[in-house]
Amino acid sequence: MLQTEEINQIRSSVDIVDVISGYLPLTQKGKNFFGVCPFHDDHSPSMSVSREKQIYTCFSCGATGNVFKFLMDYENITFPEAVQKVADKAGIAVDLHIKSHHVKTANQELYDIYDYALKCYQNHLNTESGQTAKEYLHDRNISDEVMKEFKIGYSFQKREQLTSMLRKKGYSDKDLLRSGLVIQNEYGYTDIYYDRIMFPLYDMNGRVVGFSGRIYKPGKDFKYINTKETEIFKKGELLYNYHRAKDIARQKNQVIVMEGFMDVIRAFTIDVKNAIATMGTAVTKEQALAIKKMAKEVILCFDGDQAGEKATYACSNELLAIGVVPKIVRLEENLDPDEYIQKYGKEQFERKLDQPMNVLDFKMLYYKHHRDLQNSMDLANYVNDMIEEVSKVEDEVLRELTLQKVADDSGLTVEFLKEKLEQKEKTVTLTTVKPKSSTRETKKMSKTEQAERNLIFYMLRSAEVIKMYQKKVAFMPTEEYRFLAREISFYYKAYHEMNEADFLTSIADKPKLMKTLGKISSLELKEDYTLEEIEDYIKAIQQYNIQYEIDRMKIRLKEEVDPMKKAKYAEKIVELKRKEEAI
Ligand code: CTP
Ligand code: MN
Repeated sequence: MLQTEEINQIRSSVDIVDVISGYLPLTQKGKNFFGVCPFHDDHSPSMSVSREKQIYTCFSCGATGNVFKFLMDYENITFPEAVQKVADKAGIAVDLHIKSHHVKTANQELYDIYDYALKCYQNHLNTESGQTAKEYLHDRNISDEVMKEFKIGYSFQKREQLTSMLRKKGYSDKDLLRSGLVIQNEYGYTDIYYDRIMFPLYDMNGRVVGFSGRIYKPGKDFKYINTKETEIFKKGELLYNYHRAKDIARQKNQVIVMEGFMDVIRAFTIDVKNAIATMGTAVTKEQALAIKKMAKEVILCFDGDQAGEKATYACSNELLAIGVVPKIVRLEENLDPDEYIQKYGKEQFERKLDQPMNVLDFKMLYYKHHRDLQNSMDLANYVNDMIEEVSKVEDEVLRELTLQKVADDSGLTVEFLKEKLEQKEKTVTLTTVKPKSSTRETKKMSKTEQAERNLIFYMLRSAEVIKMYQKKVAFMPTEEYRFLAREISFYYKAYHEMNEADFLTSIADKPKLMKTLGKISSLELKEDYTLEEIEDYIKAIQQYNIQYEIDRMKIRLKEEVDPMKKAKYAEKIVELKRKEEAI
């Protein structure tokens, strides 16, 4: 591992503003840059990035950190991986040997089992017994190169084959069952997958965490069997092809969301490499947040059938709820992207992608499909639904255009619809907007806690304040603040300067401290302080500590029977009170 100085040097060789703006648009306001926070359901720019301090802070969710922390959380990577990435960006030659030094986790056996199974399946596809499966793939126009790229394989025909191979490798029965590739039934331990085409499933970091096995001959069996969920495989968090698509999606600032992995694989063959798949399940909030992080432009290109329309509807709502306004592509003739590309070719499909519908036009179509607008009741429902939909979108032009269209459809005037919309938005604001968390917390928070918090806020900015803390505050009453203040003090003792961004590196592996720091960094306090203010904070803390001591002595005094000791406690209380007055 590198020395702290080297890590700090790598950190300071890039500008956090440049790095973050590679992931999300930032606009400058005064000294700082602002963007929509990728770490919570943010609609307006709550994240501030400071060039001067080289840190980011979200005023809404409290996420905070330096460039390493940003990359770790945004890309779901480890600290060494983030350091390596920044070094690469800055052109600094370091090799952290990230692959070979992977920390052995509790789930290492699972990863190893899947890696091994992947190799077995891949090899098996190229053997004599894999020929029929391979022909099926060729018939579907999947070339050998694509099979290699997506590591497509073929499971065994003998039901105990993989089980016995894994046993020979020394894995315990417990791990075999845990992996979900082996099951125990009346015949003993057997493979779950046999005679299926195998597609590996990857987590966000590109590690294999399971498989989906497809039949390739007509039969009654399920078309796909997915590996059961484990600690490392949660279907609702996974997006097929995420790890392969994320960099390209970021470059193009566009991600295409599909339903099936065959669709994604097909798109790849025509050089559309920024596609991912939800794998046929309803999109979860976790998946939506991951999609939001990939690119600004999100295009939903689901199957052309009714189920695909429903899925588009559900997915767009999940995205709208976190502030993403998706664009929609609908394919004709009930085709899915795979079939569409094969039937109409690359250019035609790209044309579809170049002319997506906006989400409100899609919603209009969707609601119309389910209603008969000649019927007044249906028409009223349609209008109300559309007003609701318009209220979810912030783009003024899009709102206006949609209201026009709904007016045309319904025969109502645009003015009337606008009034309805206004009424709706008023009630929404009244019922759903909560007071800002900071103001809420200030009310609940004791004077001491406020003082501790504010003092730390300025300790992060000034050596002078750290020194005052070291001299005058021996102890912060609130545990989380106490630990953080101590850590800052240690840091200062070690480096003789305070650099918030480097300090963040030093506590990156302490989630509790990071959380506390996030809370403090997102305080909206002014940047400069006066000495009186700092002294006031210190006094408040000292007073609390003395009062606490006095209370403790009073209890002892009350409980003590020995008159000598009683006198000593009383004396101590007087002394403390004098001290308190002197503050
Ligand atoms: N799926 C599944 N189990 C099934 C059917 C589907 O897990 N029984 C998931 C798969 O991840 C699949 C996605 O849902 O990729 C979409 O389903 P579907 O459209 O039926 O599959 P296709 O991707 O079109 O696959 P194929 O073209 O091979 O039929
Ligand atoms: Mn298909």
